[in-house]
Amino acid sequence: MSSATQAPQRQVFVSRTAFIMAAIGSAIGLGNIWRFPYVAYESGGGAFIIPYLVALLTAGIPLLFMVYAIGHRSRSSAPLAYRSLHRAAEPIGWFKTGIATFIGIYYAVIVAWAISFTGFSLTQSWGDDPEGFFIGEYLQQSGEAGLSGTFVPGVMIPLIIVWILCLVVLFAGVQAGIARFSNVFVPLLVIIFAILVVRALFLPGAIDGLDALFTPDWGALANPTVWIAAYGQIFFSLSIMFGIMLTYASYLKRKTNLTGSGLVVGFANSSFEMLAGVGVFAALGFMAHTAGVGVDEVVSNGVGLAFIAFPTIISEMPGGAIFGVLFFLSLIFAGLTSLVSIIQVPISAIADKTGISERTSTIVVGGLMAVVSILIMPTATGLSVLDTIDAFTNNLGIVGVALTSVIAVGWLLLGLPKLRDHLNGVSSFKLGPIWIICVSVITPVVLGFMLIQQMMVYAQEGYEGYPTWHLLIFGWGLIAGLAYLSFLVSIIPWPAKSLDRVEKARAEFEAQAAADAGTTARTAGGEEA
Ligand code: ALA
Repeated sequence: MSSATQAPQRQVFVSRTAFIMAAIGSAIGLGNIWRFPYVAYESGGGAFIIPYLVALLTAGIPLLFMVYAIGHRSRSSAPLAYRSLHRAAEPIGWFKTGIATFIGIYYAVIVAWAISFTGFSLTQSWGDDPEGFFIGEYLQQSGEAGLSGTFVPGVMIPLIIVWILCLVVLFAGVQAGIARFSNVFVPLLVIIFAILVVRALFLPGAIDGLDALFTPDWGALANPTVWIAAYGQIFFSLSIMFGIMLTYASYLKRKTNLTGSGLVVGFANSSFEMLAGVGVFAALGFMAHTAGVGVDEVVSNGVGLAFIAFPTIISEMPGGAIFGVLFFLSLIFAGLTSLVSIIQVPISAIADKTGISERTSTIVVGGLMAVVSILIMPTATGLSVLDTIDAFTNNLGIVGVALTSVIAVGWLLLGLPKLRDHLNGVSSFKLGPIWIICVSVITPVVLGFMLIQQMMVYAQEGYEGYPTWHLLIFGWGLIAGLAYLSFLVSIIPWPAKSLDRVEKARAEFEAQAAADAGTTARTAGGEEA
């Protein structure tokens, strides 16, 4: 009751399990179900496991540890946490916040589509033309670029429901809202998805799908884009480098096993990703079998996979309605637990920067995001805007800010030893020089390469044939605008209570470290004596 009126104590996750559940809920999202299977298939099939594991172990998990440490030691949102490392680093935190804001704006509508399709599955409303139904009848896309004033009520209504639901969860707070929500929906998601996978495995043709997914193309390993795809997949999938894991770690109690938790989250996420690969390709194998074509002719990605290929599969299989309902429910559950984590990033940042409570910030910031999302996404051009924002925020935004942040923390601020000490001070799995090498050498090299390569592709080839002006607004312009705004907002001073909290957290950790060092010295002394 009083948290809105008193100088706010940082909220906390009551237990490590609550945090782990919330973090797994954030990591397992649409990216796991509709992105991973296709990326793996396209990038060497069975051989993709090698770049994937390398990316996970050299960048995914090490960067997860890094952002956990930055968030935890400052007990702050992304901008204030970066500022606590160095004043000049604050824009990095704002840029991440901006990226999360725009990802949240489009991510919500995909969950809204899944809500509609849960209902459509019962009657298979798409008839024998799932593509025409999805793009034409349901989304009512005009095929044009840019913004449109033509709204599509069938999409807008579920979208409003999604926003209300998320904001209610977030308003309830980190423990009573996010953690409890994840505690219910993550296990439910795993159960439903496991049922789907088992069902898919018993469909005729499933084995051909698995063959297509797992047959290794070792030659692909010589292709740099395969490695880039692996790193890109890991960043989005693990929810790192757009502020989420940093923000979640800032709500942890002082003594929390950070690296141990990170390992659980990282491996849980990858295991789910593998499960999704098996399930999706078993179903695609069935689709190819029914159509009498090769699996390569039916594979698709993202929107096309979930809302066009799956409806086709649902229509063709016995008991399709139940399979369809479960499939779209799993998209809803995976999507919602990720969406709340994405929206929490700007909510927490604005609360810290203005001094308002996180509850008030949920109403103001979450409400504003909802309005923008509802005005842009359920319109006759919503799909093209979504597609462009998705590509540029992920492929340029996240990669760019990840690069800036490892260079800033690793090289300019020489902050890694401090963060390693913090992690080792509270965690069971201790980090050594290999962690520092991963974060400061391997990751920047790969990210630098990824960024240059991707910028060249977009500059030379554009994206998906959209007109240049459209890409200049929703792609390049969005990224440049966010970068500019990040510097601008960093000039505004922080309220004393936010700065005090950082100072207090620092003092507590230093005192704890000194006490621990004292205990170690005494123990060593005692042993010598
Ligand atoms: N990690 C979330 C996903 O995979 C954002 O969709």
